[in-house]
Amino acid sequence: MMKEIAYNEYSKQAMEQLSKGAFLTTTHHGKTNTMTIGWGHIGFAWGKPIFTAMVRSSRYTYELIEKSNEFTVSIPLNPMKQALGICGSKSGRETDKIAAAELTLLPGQKIATPVISGCGLHFECKIVYKQAMDPAQLDKSLNEKCYDTGDYHTFYAGEILACYTEE
Ligand SMILES: Cc1cc2nc3c(=O)[nH]c(=O)nc-3n(C[C@H](O)[C@H](O)[C@H](O)COP(=O)(O)O)c2cc1C
Repeated sequence: MMKEIAYNEYSKQAMEQLSKGAFLTTTHHGKTNTMTIGWGHIGFAWGKPIFTAMVRSSRYTYELIEKSNEFTVSIPLNPMKQALGICGSKSGRETDKIAAAELTLLPGQKIATPVISGCGLHFECKIVYKQAMDPAQLDKSLNEKCYDTGDYHTFYAGEILACYTEE
């Protein structure tokens, strides 16, 4: 059973787990893919609750999210280490990661993108702003540390249309 909650009710748990891994799911033309994310922000902008995800341009997720304009984030409140490992190392270009990681999808409540069953906490987001990183604006030490191959992130700010726990 899903319980609708305020977008920031589980912020502490969400941010703690996000740094260890969460699922960013995208769907386009009936094809669903999920990848592990470790960076992101839950915040408030334009008078709306916002989840900002950061996706490198090399990801298959990047191709899908550019077309779908929406995404979900499912945060495992209980350990899902193996599935996070698979979804953070294999690409949806070659692998059906939902099957490989033995994940079950649940339909989104407000958007067409599903969430990952069993995670416990879900965000459904509609992209309201996106921006590719401009390397010239980035701190030099971060540039050297995180982007030696030039694979920069695009920031996707998604309005949180639904936030709920799974009980
Ligand atoms: C813990 C962890 C956190 C990650 N965080 C991100 C992230 O925030 N953004 C990103 O672009 N890739 C991140 N990755 C890498 C992607 O999950 C990985 O490259 C994945 O295979 C991409 O899948 P795709 O090609 O199906 O999109 C992370 C990987 C791990 C293991």
